[in-house]
Amino acid sequence: MTDKNYEIISEDIRTDSDKIIELKNCNEQFFIMEGRRKKYHILTYGCQMNEHDSEKIAGMLTSVGYEETDDEKQADLVIFNTCLIRENAELRVFGKLGEVKGLKRNNPHMLVAVCGCMMQRQEIREKVLKKFSFVDIIFGTNTIHELPMLIYDAEINKRKSVGIVDDTKSIYENMPKRRKFKHKALVNITYGCDNFCTYCVVPYVRGREKSREPDDIIREIKALAEDGCKEVTLLGQNVNSYGRNLDKKVTFADLLYQINKIDGIERIRFMTSHPKDLTDDLITAIKECGKVCRHVHLPVQAGSNEVLRRMNRKYTKEHYLSLVEKLRKDLPDIAITTDIIVGFPGETEEDFLETIDMVKKVRFDSAFTFLYSMREGTAAAKMENQIPDDVKHKRFDRLLEVLYPIVLEKNKECLGKVFPVLVETVENNRLTGRTEHFRLVHFKGSRDLVGEIVNVRITKVKTFHMEGEILE
Ligand code: 5AD
Ligand code: SF4
Repeated sequence: MTDKNYEIISEDIRTDSDKIIELKNCNEQFFIMEGRRKKYHILTYGCQMNEHDSEKIAGMLTSVGYEETDDEKQADLVIFNTCLIRENAELRVFGKLGEVKGLKRNNPHMLVAVCGCMMQRQEIREKVLKKFSFVDIIFGTNTIHELPMLIYDAEINKRKSVGIVDDTKSIYENMPKRRKFKHKALVNITYGCDNFCTYCVVPYVRGREKSREPDDIIREIKALAEDGCKEVTLLGQNVNSYGRNLDKKVTFADLLYQINKIDGIERIRFMTSHPKDLTDDLITAIKECGKVCRHVHLPVQAGSNEVLRRMNRKYTKEHYLSLVEKLRKDLPDIAITTDIIVGFPGETEEDFLETIDMVKKVRFDSAFTFLYSMREGTAAAKMENQIPDDVKHKRFDRLLEVLYPIVLEKNKECLGKVFPVLVETVENNRLTGRTEHFRLVHFKGSRDLVGEIVNVRITKVKTFHMEGEILE
């Protein structure tokens, strides 16, 4: 499906347009008159790709004079960065939009913007414009860089502003980013997806796969390292196909070797890996690059070959199991996590039992489990034999009954052992961080350890987290 000749244009974003300069001036004047900066509040739904898009939105807003607030009631601009992957994500957005309507009634000057994956669908944009007519700005995943212009039109020209581009060949480099954490950072390596798994809406809303130039990625990570960042997570819908449409021949494995050399970076993570593209070279790269975490998130989705075929996953159960075997042979301590969908159209009891069998065979370190959700426009939505909700729910519960004890068993293997943990957050002298294997650990310690990698002995384990104590 990938078009090798798909021409990608790397563009720097423009920050010198008349509208941007005027918006900045207006915000500056507001500051002088009111003694405070205009505030924004972003509600982010969905995956890490969206989390990172919100960091770009925050960066754009900061660059034109806004400041962040945690309290949506205080905000002059509320932004919904939406997700469309499953129906419940969509319903949550509509529910929350209803709540914000009341806020806007109390504060008519407040601007409300809706962006993200949902806005890439015309029928949903129309629904928002009709049902939530108080929404001032609509933009999409390809138009984040246009946000200041859209605010200008809404605020100064008092126009409803909509900025949508269905698919784009442009990658916008140097977009300002306001990252949530200093010591760990999300970094895009590819955008979009060409795989068209039949249940998934992502290829329709995020467009064709585009890889960033390796030099741009390296430059960004070097700057992060200089700023004190220790861990990067490389983001792509399918990181394993990185480089496929670049002129320069470069693979994901090559990229890992280059990033591994960057001083200051101590941990490299990536997600998501598609089993059909996980190469021996990549396994070797994980082995040879000391900074690459021994953790791979490798969505299996289902255990039955017939279901995998109808999902258009392009691998078999046997291939997946052989990958797991290879990974564990070369990297005995690697953690393997996964995504599983229950109740795909036509899934029989036997198919489902194959998923259970897969879970028992692989013994995943952890898994995200999902009820299949019918997404308009996808091939699976048109398939016959959609599974009734009650059957889906029963299978889902049965899956968890098998999965959770395995995850707990895996955590128990950590008891008494010492792991380096990158401390991420602190609350009342309770620190939280992750091991290289992506296990969440809570332990006592002082606030100044946030951002440090410390050795922690595991003293207690649960299914979703572990507890431990710092070694002096
Ligand atoms: N229904 C349920 N789960 C889905 N996913 C993607 N699309 C759907 C859907 N329509 C899951 C897949 C994917 C993860 C990000 O979301 O498991 O790996
Ligand atoms: Fe969706 Fe499949 Fe692409 Fe992942 S690889 S984003 S599941 S189409």
